[in-house]
Amino acid sequence: MDSAAGSMKSRLTPYVFACWILAAFGGLMFGYDIGISGGVTGMDDFLQKFFPHILERKKHANENNYCRYDDQLLQLFTSSLYIAALVASFFASGACTAFGRKPTILTAAVFFVCGAALCGFGQALWMLIIGRILFGFGVGFGNEAVPLFLSEIAPVHQRGAVNILFQLFVTIGILIANLINFVTAKIHPNGWRISLGLAAVPGTILLIGSLIITETPPSLVQRNKMDQGKSALKKIRGVENVDFEFRQIVESCEQARQVKDPFRKLFRKSGVPPLIISNVIQIFQQLTGINAIMFYAPVLFQTLGFHSDASLLSSVITGLVNVGSTFVSIFTVDKIGRRLLLLEACIQMLISQVAIGAILHVHLKDTGSLNKGWALIVVVLVCSFVMSFAWSWGPMGWLIPSEIFPVETKTAGFAFAVSTNMIFTFLIAQAFLSMMCHLKANIFFFFSAWIVIMGLFVLFLLPETKDVPTNEIEERIWKPHPLWRKFF
Ligand code: BGC
Repeated sequence: MDSAAGSMKSRLTPYVFACWILAAFGGLMFGYDIGISGGVTGMDDFLQKFFPHILERKKHANENNYCRYDDQLLQLFTSSLYIAALVASFFASGACTAFGRKPTILTAAVFFVCGAALCGFGQALWMLIIGRILFGFGVGFGNEAVPLFLSEIAPVHQRGAVNILFQLFVTIGILIANLINFVTAKIHPNGWRISLGLAAVPGTILLIGSLIITETPPSLVQRNKMDQGKSALKKIRGVENVDFEFRQIVESCEQARQVKDPFRKLFRKSGVPPLIISNVIQIFQQLTGINAIMFYAPVLFQTLGFHSDASLLSSVITGLVNVGSTFVSIFTVDKIGRRLLLLEACIQMLISQVAIGAILHVHLKDTGSLNKGWALIVVVLVCSFVMSFAWSWGPMGWLIPSEIFPVETKTAGFAFAVSTNMIFTFLIAQAFLSMMCHLKANIFFFFSAWIVIMGLFVLFLLPETKDVPTNEIEERIWKPHPLWRKFF
């Protein structure tokens, strides 16, 4: 631990723990949506009500393994939310700066609850679409505010672990959604309503939570609420003497206050390195191919020849692996650092994807299915892929952008990162089934090629942010770096 981090004492109080968990429910909402829509769009009752022509086509679908689920409209149902989230993240950035993290999280929760109600009670397609858009607004506001909130209330030497609570709750949300779909798929004709409507439960917890949590000290100081900022810091650190850390916050906020237009500052020369890194990390996170698995695991496993129940069960297994492996990063990220986790994962993801691609290439033709032995090996390889993503690119995609910007451009810069994530999530959601239809097993080689590029990026361009306080980033991260120092 460095001396600055070492001189900032803190105690874990029940209140601060509650703040972490309640805010992390924003992540659970995001994960719930990722996990729920794939299952719902597979339910015949749902298709019958809103997309009868797709149900008709599905019944007479040609039996080509790789193409039977290729449908733009259906993919649009899954992906449309991310466009709404993309737009919302910029408003959320303004809200975060002007009003603080707490009211931004509250706004997200209101959107989630309204979206869940509209979808759950949806009678016509337009209600469903508006519900999805409201949900997307919730994701935009929540994904902007929650990772920032968590990074800002965590002591610097635990910042990684606390921030990863967001990702942990994303994975829990995905798993809960998979389990719920598993049950509601058997409830006719309104199982899909339960799946979509139940999002109101975590949404309400987030809503109540957003009234209980503290505002973050940097956000208060930035808005000139010095006394409140100091007492918030005392409350979350659980100690009386917070002078050293408070001075640091004031110092970086003073610099921030001089910047009238953070978006313009972001595009100045010195704003470029964090902007590139945070956006590239988000693009790469999606180009690992993770959401091909998260959105379409049941479909993918059916493509391998699994029956409906077995493929839903396999999705639950990958969901469990996703949650379990996230703990690995919680316990290691502040010890071994961000870079090592990312690099290890690149190797493990590469081996898994190449092996899956090779097995499918040789053994899965356009018709017929894999034999049991090979199918089992593919499930194990998918688990290995999900596992390595879960302790690396999953959490780091949110952690690094939340800690790499100086205070003055933090919310604006993070908004870009969130929206980049949304664009690429949208693209993968929209394109994966069509890509699988055209590229067949080669789709896995496509993602593998990206994994090689992202490994090189980490190796040569990504600095380590472990234990570096926000106000020391320029001196300790950018200036010593052979390439990035040219921007300062
Ligand atoms: C990503 C999501 C992904 C999830 C999987 C998140 O970090 O942003 O797109 O579905 O991890 O756990």
